[in-house]
Amino acid sequence: MKGISAIILAAGQGRRMKSSLPKVAHLVLGKPVVWHVAQAARAAGIREMAFVLGYGRDKVLPVVEAFGGKVAIQESQFGTGDAARCGLAELSAGAKEIVVLCGDAPLLRSATIRGLLAARRRQGATASVLTGVLDDPTGYGRIVRGDDGSVARIVEEKDANASLRTVREVNSGTYAFDRVFLERALPRLSDLNAQREYYLTDLVLEALAEGKRVVPVTALVPDEVRGINSRRELAEATRILLERKLEELMESGVTLVDPRRTYIETEVSVGQDTVIDPGVTLLGATRIGRGVRIQTGCVIDGSVLSDGVELKPYTVISGSTVRKGAILGPFSHLRPEADIGEGAHIGNFVEVKKSRIGKGSKANHLAYLGDATIGKKVNVGAGTITCNYDGIHKHPTVLGDGVFVGSDTMLVAPVTVGKGALIGAGSTITRNVPPYSLAICRAEQKTIEGWVALKRPELLKKAGLTVPAAKKGKK
Ligand code: UD1
Ligand code: MG
Repeated sequence: MKGISAIILAAGQGRRMKSSLPKVAHLVLGKPVVWHVAQAARAAGIREMAFVLGYGRDKVLPVVEAFGGKVAIQESQFGTGDAARCGLAELSAGAKEIVVLCGDAPLLRSATIRGLLAARRRQGATASVLTGVLDDPTGYGRIVRGDDGSVARIVEEKDANASLRTVREVNSGTYAFDRVFLERALPRLSDLNAQREYYLTDLVLEALAEGKRVVPVTALVPDEVRGINSRRELAEATRILLERKLEELMESGVTLVDPRRTYIETEVSVGQDTVIDPGVTLLGATRIGRGVRIQTGCVIDGSVLSDGVELKPYTVISGSTVRKGAILGPFSHLRPEADIGEGAHIGNFVEVKKSRIGKGSKANHLAYLGDATIGKKVNVGAGTITCNYDGIHKHPTVLGDGVFVGSDTMLVAPVTVGKGALIGAGSTITRNVPPYSLAICRAEQKTIEGWVALKRPELLKKAGLTVPAAKKGKK
């Protein structure tokens, strides 16, 4: 929307959080509190945003950068009015309407911001304020309405008398202003109040003094106005955003077997007809395709799963790619940069790191594959390990198409096994193997007949076996 800019107030410490991290940098459903605020502004069509930063600004800067925002520094936190003044100074001349948002209110939706802007215009008011009616209004500024229903005053909890404290309509800290008014009125604010702060809320009185109107817009869902001031409120906000996210996914055709036991972060996308069992956690920018099956206990972080993938219980995947129809688990572990090919199988207690596994290949049991490039239709036997680390450097292992690796093989990297080659079980492979060859590297087997009966008969007795009579002439 042209001519509309936002100021996001995010300079405060948030003492009630009891944290060294600034309040707005705490995570809600995987993203900083203030990220959600900026995201709502962007979704409402607002391009230009000024972030007012102060306490712990370095921790908030990544969010500002993600939105291409402008930074306004408020060195000391003299109050929300002072913060808005700092933000306003950074906005371009083209900004005619200003939305002020509290960086600590992550539940606000873009449609509500649009509604706030529309109400101000429709009613020809100088400002509009988002309000909410809360069962417990403790801590919030209270809305005092005039006879015509417009806002007469906003009184902070600390400045309110007992009767005002019973008012349940509260200030959300979200406003739309006419810019010219804001420029004119902000310098007039005073700090003569209980907190010795410049209150942005006192602009209501400034507007009235000019004979102008401030219109309230009441949020239909009161949760939207909630600011985060404590760890408890942080957890409540996470719960509410999570419920919204899960609702959205079900709406779009995803089956959540038990939504109350499913945790999916904000940026995750899931395709239609995917079925997610209880106890699944999907994190970061994970993208899940269509018709995927994710069984209980799986944790997936920052990964891409294509259509038709199947994850059996307790599979853990981070920073990896799983291609069409691959089957993983139970208890598989993909560490960053694993790339599992179409239709491949990765089974129990198999760990894969920074490796490409070709189409249709299998590593079904107990293996470690690191820094490996594995071709198509390769069979990796149980207990196979790529010995990729010499204590200083990592080295690559390459297995060509159709290679068969027998169980309990050590592949001492760097090493290359040509296509169609076969490795005998129990081998330690230290040299390259040419295509189509057999490589086997194990000690010759020694068998001494009758040895147990002669030397350790007690073992046989313990097992309930009869001890055969010793044969003459044999040791
Ligand atoms: C503010 C409102 C209150 C409203 C509530 C909604 C005022 C005076 N009060 O109170 O009416 O009900 O929000 O949550 O505006 N900030 C700065 N610089 C400062 C002070 C604050 O950037 O000098 C930022 C904070 O980082 C925070 C936001 O402004 O993101 C709100 O500040 P906070 O201290 O939480 O205000 P409340 O007491 O909650
Ligand atoms: Mg607050």
